[in-house]
Amino acid sequence: MAKRGPTYHCQACGAVYHRWQGKCDACGTWSSLVEDVQAAPVPGGGRPSSGGRARGRVFALETLKGETQDAPRIASGIGELDRVTGGGFVPGSVLLIGGDPGIGKSTLLMQACAALAMGGRRVVYVSGEESTGQVRLRAERMGLAEAPVDLAAETNVEDIVATLGQGERPALVVIDSIQTMWSGEVESAPGTVTQVRGSAQALIRYAKTSGACMILVGHVTKDGQIAGPRVVEHMVDAVLSFEGEGAHSFRILRGQKNRFGATDEIGVFEMTGKGLSEVTNPSALFLAGRDQPAPGAAVFAGMEGTRPVLVEIQALVAPTALGTPRRAVVGWENSRLAMVLAVLETHGGLRLGQHDVYLNVAGGLRVNEPAADVAVAAALVSSLSGATLPQEAVYFGEIALSGAIRPVAVAAARLREAAKLGFEAALMPSGGADHGDGNGLNLRRFGHVTELVADIAARAPRRDVK
Ligand code: TYD
Ligand code: MG
Repeated sequence: MAKRGPTYHCQACGAVYHRWQGKCDACGTWSSLVEDVQAAPVPGGGRPSSGGRARGRVFALETLKGETQDAPRIASGIGELDRVTGGGFVPGSVLLIGGDPGIGKSTLLMQACAALAMGGRRVVYVSGEESTGQVRLRAERMGLAEAPVDLAAETNVEDIVATLGQGERPALVVIDSIQTMWSGEVESAPGTVTQVRGSAQALIRYAKTSGACMILVGHVTKDGQIAGPRVVEHMVDAVLSFEGEGAHSFRILRGQKNRFGATDEIGVFEMTGKGLSEVTNPSALFLAGRDQPAPGAAVFAGMEGTRPVLVEIQALVAPTALGTPRRAVVGWENSRLAMVLAVLETHGGLRLGQHDVYLNVAGGLRVNEPAADVAVAAALVSSLSGATLPQEAVYFGEIALSGAIRPVAVAAARLREAAKLGFEAALMPSGGADHGDGNGLNLRRFGHVTELVADIAARAPRRDVK
């Protein structure tokens, strides 16, 4: 048998090494390798054997065709949360919610627990981070102290599973957080990757066998000091991330993986003094802080999953004082900005080599769609030329490397949302479907960036688009 030496686990990504090294080759994190104490190998290869020969249990094989049941759902009643889970929690499934510390994971889950408990279901909330007193205080602050949620401050998974086995089977169990859990069957310090994985395995096994829905909370830390929940991601049925910008009070719940639903839906919440409140009309929220008309701002009619979301794109193009001009982006892809800039220079005749470019998606939303190209280009040209864009217009369309403006998906829903919010015009690609009266919007179609640049430059107070 091969000699078993110590092994080292990367605390950030879970990669295994047989020798210690300063940097993890897999994820590039420094000083993240921690020695793992190996459990002594079980004599006989780890499986009960008879007569020295390992024998497997024979199981029946099934066909693809057969009885299936639609996954029944337990809706929390919090619309924005149910939207992201795909219509509610699935019994027997395991969900991981990741997010920075302090973003509001515990708050959201306590609200979900309270809603289900009020609906007559058994819900257990296990806190490994806070005392029951602290959890109670938070519930009181949110006005949920009366909800019949079963509460515990425990960290040992064997104890937790044994306790959950008592009495009525819970519909939902929340483990806050998976990093604080430890299993007596794993010989490793709490907080290490091995412990997190071992504890998660035990809890997932409980969920699958009992049919309770399990939610695991995981903190994401950038320095990788605490074992990241990444190692658990492939073991669970759904991974949601809870995001938000420090300065803003709203939070976005995003699906990253979901075996029972779509992953492109987002849930929008606002953190208030009484917990998280749902934002059912995100466009109104993202556009709420719009200032007086100024150059460099364009409203993008975007889509987040099946829901249209209008958001302001802000650009600042200013002469640079540096040898190499700066390019800074918040809320959009760097490489996509570089592409739009290159197209504007090559086909739009703009000279941006001596200008710093800053781009910001207002309100802290992250836009992932190429459909934002036209809005970005409009904001950039507007800032450079000093031409204020019309306040009552929305922009969308994808820009090709040739400078052509391409049609994008679900234009009708974008136009509907813009009309609903009182916009009067849409600057959009010339190809694509005919939108009839465009919900009363003035549809202005463009086939190439040159037309867009000329249109904006014509509004400029001075002619300095060079
Ligand atoms: P919390 O849910 O504890 O975050 P996490 O579990 O993700 O670490 O939320 C912590 C923050 O939320 C904290 O900074 C205070 C704020 N908060 C409110 O603003 N209003 C509230 O009603 C509650 C409960 C928290
Ligand atoms: Mg918490």
